[in-house]
Amino acid sequence: MSDTLRKRFNDYVNDLFVEEDDILKFVRDETQRLGLPLINLDPFEGQMMKVLVAMTGAKKIVEVGTLAGYSGIWIARGLPADGKLITIEKSGKHADISRTHFEKAGVSGQVTVYQGAGMDILNKIASDAPYDMLFIDADKSNYGNYLNWAAEHLRIGGTVMAHNAFWGGNIFDPQTEDDHGLVAFNQALADHPQLMSTIIEVGDGLAVGVKTG
Ligand SMILES: C[S@@+](CC[C@H](N)C(=O)[O-])C[C@H]1O[C@@H](n2cnc3c(N)ncnc32)[C@H](O)[C@@H]1O
Repeated sequence: MSDTLRKRFNDYVNDLFVEEDDILKFVRDETQRLGLPLINLDPFEGQMMKVLVAMTGAKKIVEVGTLAGYSGIWIARGLPADGKLITIEKSGKHADISRTHFEKAGVSGQVTVYQGAGMDILNKIASDAPYDMLFIDADKSNYGNYLNWAAEHLRIGGTVMAHNAFWGGNIFDPQTEDDHGLVAFNQALADHPQLMSTIIEVGDGLAVGVKTG
């Protein structure tokens, strides 16, 4: 498929389906205004996450990497009324900002922000397993550790998802620790005996694995 046609398809889907409202736009603008890194999902990926959450019927979701809460709002909007999202953020500043945004988006009753390092918090909440979904969008060198946690703590039929599976193309010529983290993660996901997996070609690549055993 030509790049031109691919872009037209993307624009077509974007115009028809992507529901980025004023609150989500505000969160994106605030991310920039407050000087946070602009590394959140794009609206197209956000819509995909919302649909996947609703499609899988996930009610008990964990996210690693909250930033300003942009992806968390999309995820929360895919949850049923009794669904819950735990989102983990290492930076105290990001965690505080995200709490304000979850409040503003009217989803704070369904979202709990834990401030701390991903693996530390995941180990703390492991006693409440099984979970329905883990969404990984934080430090790339730990993606493999988050994957192992998911294989152990998701229910059968639960889903692990990871943002940046294509890592802007750096998976083809890995140089940094983060690049190698992504390459190793994708390989581990492909080889994992308990997971049926693929990468959805949306945005920077959304890796998805369903726990089968
Ligand atoms: C790519 S951003 C998350 C974007 C967010 N998911 C979104 O789309 O709106 C990554 C976030 O992970 C946080 N982070 C980095 N290392 C972490 C760790 N070890 N544990 C938890 N969070 C971490 C960063 O502070 C940053 O806010």
